[in-house]
This record gives sequence, C-alpha cells and structure tokens, in this order.
Amino acid sequence: MTNEHLTRIRMRPHWKMRDLCGFALAAILLVAGVTRSPAADSSAISPAPSLLLGAAWYPEQWPESRWDRDLSLMEASHLHVVRVGEFAWSRMEPQEGRYDLDWLERAVRLAEKHHIAVVLGTPTDAPPAWLTSKYPDTLRVDANGRRAEHGSRRQFNYASPRYRIFCADIAGRMAQRFGHDRNVIGWQIGNEYTDESFDAATLAQFQQWLRRRFGTLDALNEHWATAYWSQTYDRWDEIPLVASGGNPGLLLEHRHFVTETWRDFQQVQLEAIRRQADRRQFITTNLGGLAWTDNFDHYQIARDLTMASWDDYVGQGHLNAARNGAMHDLVRGWKRAPFWVMEAQPGSVNWAPVNTTLDRGETRAMAWQAVGHGADAVLYWQWRSALNGQEQYHGAIVGPDGEPLPFYSEVSEIGSEFERAGAALKDTAPVAQVALLHSYDSRWAIDFQPHNRNYDQLEVLLDWYRPLRAQGLTVDVIGADAPLAGYKLVVAPSLNVISSSLAKQLLAYVQQGGALVLGPRSGMKDEYNALNVQRQPGPLVEPLGGRVEQYYALDGTVPVSGELGAGTADVWAEQLSTRAADTSVLLRYGKSNGWLDGQPAMITRQVGKGRISYLGAVLDANLMRSAIAWMTQTAQVEAEFGALPEDVEVCRRVGRNHSVYILINHASAAKEIHLSAPMMDVLHEGPSVTVANLEAHGVAVLEAQAN
Ligand code: GLA
Repeated sequence: MTNEHLTRIRMRPHWKMRDLCGFALAAILLVAGVTRSPAADSSAISPAPSLLLGAAWYPEQWPESRWDRDLSLMEASHLHVVRVGEFAWSRMEPQEGRYDLDWLERAVRLAEKHHIAVVLGTPTDAPPAWLTSKYPDTLRVDANGRRAEHGSRRQFNYASPRYRIFCADIAGRMAQRFGHDRNVIGWQIGNEYTDESFDAATLAQFQQWLRRRFGTLDALNEHWATAYWSQTYDRWDEIPLVASGGNPGLLLEHRHFVTETWRDFQQVQLEAIRRQADRRQFITTNLGGLAWTDNFDHYQIARDLTMASWDDYVGQGHLNAARNGAMHDLVRGWKRAPFWVMEAQPGSVNWAPVNTTLDRGETRAMAWQAVGHGADAVLYWQWRSALNGQEQYHGAIVGPDGEPLPFYSEVSEIGSEFERAGAALKDTAPVAQVALLHSYDSRWAIDFQPHNRNYDQLEVLLDWYRPLRAQGLTVDVIGADAPLAGYKLVVAPSLNVISSSLAKQLLAYVQQGGALVLGPRSGMKDEYNALNVQRQPGPLVEPLGGRVEQYYALDGTVPVSGELGAGTADVWAEQLSTRAADTSVLLRYGKSNGWLDGQPAMITRQVGKGRISYLGAVLDANLMRSAIAWMTQTAQVEAEFGALPEDVEVCRRVGRNHSVYILINHASAAKEIHLSAPMMDVLHEGPSVTVANLEAHGVAVLEAQAN
C-alpha cells in the first residue's frame, strides 16, 4: 500500500482524522509485516546511568565508516545518550513508499556497543522534497498568503490531514522497527513546533472548531461583543483567521485552536508510536523558543507526553541565572515532574546578533543548574556540524575534521561528574513550598493589548521570582489551574484572566489555609478575553474585600511606602481600595498624578484559614524584596538552606531519605559557603564537608542524609 492509497482512503468525508490514521496504520502493519530486529528484547534494561549527558548526532550526514570514531569519542567523554533521526526523513524514506531504516538500526547497535542509549526523533519537522512537491497542500501558508517552499525546514502545514498521514506512517514504521529495541529509551516527536498555517483549509477548520466551542453564533457574538464595530457574524464562514489586530476574543480563540491543532498533530504520531512501543520508552517533544515562547499552550501539549523537554540556549552574552532557572521551573511545571534539556548550547550558537561563546566553566554551571532545577539529562546541540547546510557556524563538540574542539574537555568533565552524581540524584526531584502561577491565556490577553509597551510579563515574573530564589527557596512555576494543596504560598503576578471556576479554585485554596498573593493586572478578563464586569480582580473582589479602582500605565516612577518599606513603582500602578473593615493596607502611593496620591498599592485580608493579598504595582527590586519577605514570613515558609553570598544559587532535590543540594557560583570570582551541618561532597566521592569552596562558575553537589 502506498501513500497514494492512504490518501484515497482519507478522502471519505465522514471519517475523522484519528480514525483514518488508526486505519492507515493498521493497514501499514498488515502490509509491511513486522520483522523484529535481533536486538528486540523488551525485558532488557538499558545500561544508561540515571543522570545523562549526551548530544544530537546525525549519522545520516556522515559516511558509516566514521560512526565508530564519533561514538568512541563520545564514550570517552562520558556521553551516554544521543538523539538521532529528527531531520532524516529523506534517508528513511528516500522515495514515496520506499523505506530504509537499516542504517538507523546499525547506528543504534553501534551506539549500544559504546554504552550510549538512543532517543529517536521522528523526522516530521523536515519533509522530503518528493512529498511537498507532489502534495503542495502539505506546505503551510503564512499570514500574508505566501506558501512555504522546500529548502529549509518547518515548511509543512500542521493542520493538513494529508501531511499527518505521512507523519503517522513514518513514525509508525520507526516504532515498528525500534519500539522494542533495548537501546532505544525514548522518542521525540518532530522538533520545536513552531509555525502555524493560514491557508483556506485551515481557516475552515478554525470555523468548525469555533462552532464546536460556542455551539451557536449568538453565544460567539455575545462573548466577543461583536456589536462593537458591526463585527456581528451571521454565518460561521464569515469569521476570519487573523494573526494580529483582531477582536481580542477571536485572537484568544485562535491561540486555543493553534494549541489544539498542534496537539492533534502530535497525537497522530503519539498513537502511531504508542501502539507498537514498549511502555518503558518515553515520548516527548523538544519545545523550543527558550521555553518562554507562547505560540500555543504548552500545558496542553505536554499533557499527552510522558515527559517534558526543552531546548535551553543563551545566545549572545552570558547565562542569566535567574531567567534560565525560572525557565527550567516553568518547564518542570508543564507536567509537574522532572524533565530533559534536549538541546543545550555547546559554547555558542549561530543565530544571535553576535555569537559569543560562554566562558570556560559556564557551560558546566549551566548543566548543573539544569539538574538542580529538575533535569535528568542534558544533550548538546550538536555533536558535529554538517559540512554544509544552514548551521555551519553553530557550536559543536568536534570540528569539521572530526577531532575534539576545545569545548570537548568541558563536556568530558561534566560527563564524568554526571556519572559520579547519578546514584545520589536517582529518584530525587525539587520539592517546593512556593508556587508561582503562570497562564498562557493571561499572557496572550495582556500581549494583545499591552497598554504599556514596557510591561514585559517575563520581567514582572522575574521581579517576583528573584527574591524568592535569593532566599534559597525552590519555586514551582505552574499552570494557574494546577492543584495547589501543599503549597504554603502561591503568588500570581499578571494573572489577567480569572474565570469564575478558577476564582473558586483559588478561593478554596485560601479558605483551607493557603496564602495567595495576586499581582498587577490580575482578574481583569474572563475566559473569553472579555472584560470581567466586576473591577479587578473580578470574581475575587468579594473575598479580597477590596478592588482596583483604576489602572495607570506609567512612564516614570511613583513613590510607594508603608509597613513593608519605601521605594517606587514603575511601568504599572493600580489604585486600590478597601471595601471590608478587616482588609488592611500594606503599601500606599506617594505624590503622583493626583489619582494615585495616598491611595493603597497593596492590600491584604484573612479569609477562612488563609489569606488573600493584592499588590497592584511593579515595584523596584528593594521594595519587592521586602514585599516577598513579608509574603514568605506570613505564610510561614521554611528556609531550605542557610544564607547565600550574592550570585550563588542553591537548588535542592529531595529523595526518600536524603536531599541533594547543588550550589552554583554564577560569579567570575571565587566564593566560600559555610554549611549549617556537614554534608557529603558528591563530586569528590564522599568526604564530609562543612565548607564549600566554589571557584568562578564553580559547582558543589552535596548530599544530606535527611530531608
Ligand atoms: C533549534 C533546533 C536545532 C538547531 C538549534 C540551533 O533549537 O531544534 O535543530 O537548529 O536550534 O541552535
């Protein structure tokens, strides 16, 4: 059966996409016949250690005679995992319906000989030329109506049913061959889901999707307030697909549609793999865009995967420790579980304005930071640059001559440390008393209409995150609707969208004893991106016993003071009021625009067994530190580690009977840290120490026998 046959099968209009793929895969299985490889043995356990260092390896770009040398060099530098295959479609299926996975099997076997486990990437980010030239409808169309072309990658249309059949086919064939392979430990679907499509067929899917979501046009018209500017829709096919500048309700639903379309795109491959693969093989996708990207809701995408992973790059300059740490915590929150760094920068990249190289030792600090925040593996992109192609200048571990670059020595050091620390870190994970709520709906809602172009949601998040981390606290960054039981303190800067059901959940947390602090811009919108009819924080006005009277975009600073200290607000200030006798004011604005003068900037109220507070301004770093100190003290958050010098980060991973502390010196000067109790120095294999001496970018991994 060829793909043409499959396409014809697809043409029956009443079948749903998923049925078709199931049918197509069943047909493929029947026709192809399963030849299990000699290595197929689902009971065999991979020899890989629990903490892995690895690299993206592209055997298809090199003569086979070279592979053994590559793998020997990897083994010598303590690399124990390679990711293979994610762009190799034209090698796996050189012509439509003609497959060649033998070379991949030989690569997997050779890696095994060198004690290197394999993660297989499905190649669906880079369709072969034969596919898109024969079926141009598989190519995406950008918001300006321009169809993508072959010659780069990501040119496919994520919503194309035909493309998905090809994806399910190649993923299914790979799974059939490697789903029981003892040296294949997991799967990566595609690569960094990125671009949407604006073609006519996708528009029709969007309109159908809206119909399912709203049921009637009356409901849609009401939620989008389409009486405004005569936007009223009388037919579903009148609704446009716009990338920006549209009705905020429409823009939000487009993001939801994009999320669900990627989720379906992924699901087709997930099912194709799951149907044939051992459960021990994880299935992930490497989400890119430095984790903060929000072209779709990452919680929804991660929901169907067995593990989250992301690509952690610095680009130009040096590691921004707080930002990068927050991104790890965000990724850990996608599934509320440990994760992998599927790609990391081997010194430098090729896409920054100036492609500077990380200082010697900085990459090691970055690797340990990943582990400290919950990564169980770090893979460098890439082992060796292809001799031609768009990324010739990208950092790598070996050069065009195939011999180690200077960076190889740092990789070897990290690899050998990962080997030493694997046992201590096995079955450990970060455990937090504090959660920071993050919501894609809120991010989209604010970014569609920022009101102050300087309101940078990531910066605001970091304003709250940094002082928490400076106290040595583990912070979970989690979805706004995640379970909150167990957290002593929950903070929510910029939680713009608060639906009535989310408000109920937050209130239940407070009533049961939790401390909730809402930040600026919270509770302005409902789940359709319409204004809440109450002032901010919408459905939480009542329990807060206070509200936002008016918000002000600032182009200068405003004085703020009160029992938490004195300082300034910048960028955003909300004039609060109290409406209940027991709501107290913690901070007030000083002289400003007349409207804000003397008005509350932060209020708090005890509710049930807990407390709800609202901070309506973006504060300077000092005052924010005091505000966070008040929050952690009031919520009785316990210290996790003693005092830390500036630029030293502590991360804690907790196991059943022990904790591992990872200390990282992000400064370029040495630091000395006195421990409150003796701990085992894991990297130096065991001596008990009471002082950690960290050189510039230095790392200590310390094990304490209790939690
Ligand atoms: C992305 C991709 C990789 C590679 C790197 C280069 O993260 O996933 O294939 O292009 O960027 O930095």
